[in-house]
Amino acid sequence: MVKSFLKEIDFTKKDLLNLLALSAKFKQLKKDKVAHKYLEGKNIALIFEKTSTRTRSAFTVAGQDLGMNVTYLGAGEIQLGKKESIVDTAKVLGSMFDGIEYRGFKQEDVEILSKYSGVPVWNGLTDTWHPTQMIADFLTLTEVFGSLDDLSIAYIGDGRNNMANSLLVTSAILGVNCTIIAPKSLQPQKDIVDLAHQHNTGASLTITDDIAGVKGVNMIYTDVWVSMGEGVDFKERIDLLLPYQINQNLISLTGNPDVIVMHCLPAFHDLNTEIGKDIYEKYGYSELEITDEVFQKYSSIIFQEAENRMHSIKAIMYNSFQEE
Ligand code: CP
Ligand code: NVA
Repeated sequence: MVKSFLKEIDFTKKDLLNLLALSAKFKQLKKDKVAHKYLEGKNIALIFEKTSTRTRSAFTVAGQDLGMNVTYLGAGEIQLGKKESIVDTAKVLGSMFDGIEYRGFKQEDVEILSKYSGVPVWNGLTDTWHPTQMIADFLTLTEVFGSLDDLSIAYIGDGRNNMANSLLVTSAILGVNCTIIAPKSLQPQKDIVDLAHQHNTGASLTITDDIAGVKGVNMIYTDVWVSMGEGVDFKERIDLLLPYQINQNLISLTGNPDVIVMHCLPAFHDLNTEIGKDIYEKYGYSELEITDEVFQKYSSIIFQEAENRMHSIKAIMYNSFQEE
C-alpha cells in the first residue's frame, strides 16, 4: 500500500503518536552522529510551487541523511501547470522517483499527485493544510512539557489559513485542547470545524473572537497574517488583526507564567525583511503578528520547533516506505 502524507485526518491518534516517537528517535540518532541511511538508493523529487526555507531544507537534509538522492523541482522549472497537467506529471514522476514532496496551492492537486503517481507523496503545504509542520510542532510540545496529556493551546491571528486548520484538526485527533482566536471574518470554515469534531478523541475545541480565550493555556501559536498566494490588501488585514498580535499584554492575559509561544516561521517581528520594511514605510508598523520582544523571549523554542521540521520529516518519509 502506498503511504502518502497528505492531510492529518488520514491518520489516527496512534499513527500520529508513532510518528512523534519515530521523530524523537531520528533526532537522537542525528545528535549521536549515528548514520541512518536506511533508504539508500531511493530517489525523491521536491516540487515547490511556493517558496520555502524550512520545508525545502528539511526534506533535503532528511532525504540525504536517509541515503536518498534528492532532486529539487522549483516553480516554473518543470512543465507542470503551464504545459502539462498534474495527472500526466504524476505519472511521469512516479515512473522515475520513489517519492514526491509537493508544496502548492490547492489540496486537490497534492491528492491527484498521490493518486496518479503510485508513489508516496508528502504534502509540504497547501492552502488548506500544513501536515508536516504538525509533527514538528507536537514533537516540540512533547519535548517542552514531557507529554501531550492535559495540554491546552491557543492559535491566534488568521484563523482560517492552513496553519489554523492543521492545528485545530491535529489537536482534535491527539486530544489536545485547542482554542482558535480570530475575528469573525477570519475564523475556520465550517467544514474544517466539522472535521475537527468528527476526529476528536476528547479535546475541548473552541472558536472565539475574544483574546481572553488565551487564559490558562500552555502554549500560544501564531502565523503570518497574509499567507502565500493570498491576493488581499495587507492594510485591511493588519487593521483586522492588530488586536490579535502576540505581545506582552496577551502573554499576561494567559495568567500562566510558564506559557510558551510557538510560530511556524517565517515571522514579521522586526524590520529585517523587505516586506517588513515596506509595511513600515507604508503604514508605520514595525512588528506584525508577534512583537520582537516576545519573539526574542521565546526564540529558543521557536527555533527548536524549526529544527524539528527536519527530524519529523525524516520520520514521515521513513514511515511511508516501511508501510509500502
Ligand atoms: N514553516 C514553514 O513551512 O516554513 P517554510 O515556508 O520556510 O518552508
Ligand atoms: N500560512 C503560511 C504558512 C507558512 C509556513 C502560508 O501559507 O504562507
